[in-house]
Amino acid sequence: MNDTFLKACRGEKTDYTPVWFMRQAGRYLPEYQKVRGTVTFLELCKRPDLAVEVTLQPIDIFGMDAAILFSDILIPMEAMNLKLEFHEGRGPVFPNPVRDQKGVDNLIVPDPDATMDFVMETIRLLRKELKVPLIGFSGAPFTLATYLIEGGSSKVFLETKKMMYQQPEVYHGLMRKITECTSLYLQAQARAGAQALQIFDSWAGVLAPCDYEEFAMPYVSSIISDLRKVTDVPLIYFANNGSTLIEHTVTVGADVLGLDWRIKIQDAVAKVGNHALQGNLDPIALFLPKDKMRKRIGAIVEGAKDAKGHIFNLGHGIVPQVPPEQVRIAVDAIHELSAR
Ligand code: CP3
Repeated sequence: MNDTFLKACRGEKTDYTPVWFMRQAGRYLPEYQKVRGTVTFLELCKRPDLAVEVTLQPIDIFGMDAAILFSDILIPMEAMNLKLEFHEGRGPVFPNPVRDQKGVDNLIVPDPDATMDFVMETIRLLRKELKVPLIGFSGAPFTLATYLIEGGSSKVFLETKKMMYQQPEVYHGLMRKITECTSLYLQAQARAGAQALQIFDSWAGVLAPCDYEEFAMPYVSSIISDLRKVTDVPLIYFANNGSTLIEHTVTVGADVLGLDWRIKIQDAVAKVGNHALQGNLDPIALFLPKDKMRKRIGAIVEGAKDAKGHIFNLGHGIVPQVPPEQVRIAVDAIHELSAR
């Protein structure tokens, strides 16, 4: 068992910097496309045999130091009693967005083991196959709420912010339900065998710091404090576009803070103190020529040398257009340049 990733999460010394990439299982891989060609995205998430197969693909091909469960942050929202669709080229769609108290009342807090056994089964099967640690995950309540309220992806988050400002009781009621669902869901993943848990706050960066503090952060802290009572697996919190929120995000209680690429990693090290860091290569830097990419990677490894722990990652998900060969060059360079 390669436990370099878990050691880095805990701030222990490692022989080299472990690496995994957000969205490492996905459309840039012909092997993924082949499996995906036979089923819809939602079917793929719900078929443990296939979800296991695509989770393992990047590990087998490139040798990352951790695997991330193949699923989606919106899977538990469907279990909350919402119709969810994925439209080709447009992404997720909730045809009946939550915009009022009636919409909130309509949501249930599901028993994750009963309603999402396919996720737990995928985790159990993966643990039998994997020789690197398995990361489970969820969305953060604010990020999940944006999809439910907007009815899908958004650019300015008008409906979400309108609900926060104009119907705060409805908004907070919605957040309490999403938080309870997410907390139980992550606990169930840990019981099933997930060895670390990441909370994705993809849209936290669209909030002013005062709004983040009032409308998003308390719900993340609450999930983390629930988890601490029942499991000691490392907890990673990734607030995308969150460089301006670091003084807040250090207080949510995670072991590891994920960083996007908009901050120099040494500046983050100076601010976070007692946390391991994960990041933070610009996903598009995978298109750099080999020598320049290696230089960037070397600078990140060097910039993080005084961190309590460093897990190399991209600053956000890998894009589907990346040539797989560039991913191989990156993973090899990270291992080579960080060898101690
Ligand atoms: O490899 C991994 O990282 C594990 C699998 C994973 C997926 N989604 C698979 C996926 C993970 C961890 C996610 C998280 C997720 N899903 C997030 C948070 C991370 C981030 O990117 O900010 C968000 C916001 C979502 C919601 C979501 N799912 C969107 C907006 C989309 C459409 C956009 C897109 O990239 O197509 C998805 C679809 C999705 N999730 C795909 C995959 C592989 C593509 C689906 C396909 O095969 O057609």
